[in-house]
Amino acid sequence: MKERIDKLVEEIESFTANSKEHVEEFRIRLLSKKGKVKELFEEFKTVAPEMRKEIGQRLNELQNKAQEKLSSLKEKFESSDDSSSKELDLTQPAEQMAVGTRHPLSVVRNQIVEIFSKIGFTVSEGPEIEDDWHNFTALNTPADHPARDMQDTFFINENPDILLRTQTSSVQVHVMENSKPPIRTISPGRVYRNEAISARAHCQFHQVEGLYIDKKVSFADLKQTLMYFAKEMFGEETQIRLRPSFFPFTEISAEMDISCPFCKGAGCNICKGAGWVEILGCGMVDPAVLDNCKIDSKQYSGFAFGMGIERVTMLKYQVKDLRLFSENDIRFLKQFKAAL
Ligand code: DAH
Repeated sequence: MKERIDKLVEEIESFTANSKEHVEEFRIRLLSKKGKVKELFEEFKTVAPEMRKEIGQRLNELQNKAQEKLSSLKEKFESSDDSSSKELDLTQPAEQMAVGTRHPLSVVRNQIVEIFSKIGFTVSEGPEIEDDWHNFTALNTPADHPARDMQDTFFINENPDILLRTQTSSVQVHVMENSKPPIRTISPGRVYRNEAISARAHCQFHQVEGLYIDKKVSFADLKQTLMYFAKEMFGEETQIRLRPSFFPFTEISAEMDISCPFCKGAGCNICKGAGWVEILGCGMVDPAVLDNCKIDSKQYSGFAFGMGIERVTMLKYQVKDLRLFSENDIRFLKQFKAAL
């Protein structure tokens, strides 16, 4: 019996299989109910008591060897099965990817950035949570200044010094504090005001601030820059008009209208018959603001402007309700398939 066990061990050790079926044959021949290992275990009952210990040990070893071999063979064929099923079929058509569309406000923001970058403006950004200095005080708007009432402010934790910025003009201050003229930059971003939500007002919206500081910057430079912008954004035939206005951080200040992009100035319901629509505020940076930001107002001058991205988008695409921009209605958003 010993020899037969040893022979079987040898057979198991040298066995190789080249298919799953081959492995199954091996299992039946050795480990099934009628297999050779079982057969030897049956025979073990007849072994003389003094031989039992030794033969029993060998039999157990044989059974373990056979089982180990079987599982390693099974594993081999299963894993090779796996790898063949994972092989890529490069001829298969690709799955369709659902591509979204850019949000209209991003489309217009990118257009604005592109237009100003052509004339040397860089993009700078600032924090949405601001302190009083950057949002108001440095911009020539001290605590008791009536202009603060124009912009109802969200404060954070009832701390009157920390607030959600009400205007991207705050970025002007950061830029001037951290760099030296010449400065030519625009700052797009989100702003917040404590206003009731309606078709024409929202508690959060977007602005782009523009700032140009250098020696001998004049109002004519401002006018030319804005005219270039208006024509690029709304078409070559667009006219501009500047009206005197007031902002605490500019002196002199103006508001700019463009000829109505819909009726070309003839008068329609969008421009309420005026032929003009207001588009932005602007002016020459007040020397006090330059000094607040450690820029010598005797050496340098500059202009600034600020516009609402929602306003530009509404005029460009005839959107009549501000709320559409934040409601995420896919039927609205899908209509803006610009490349930018
Ligand atoms: N910050 C102003 C606002 O939110 C817009 C503005 C007006 C910005 C005139 C300017 C400017 O830089 O010169 O209403």
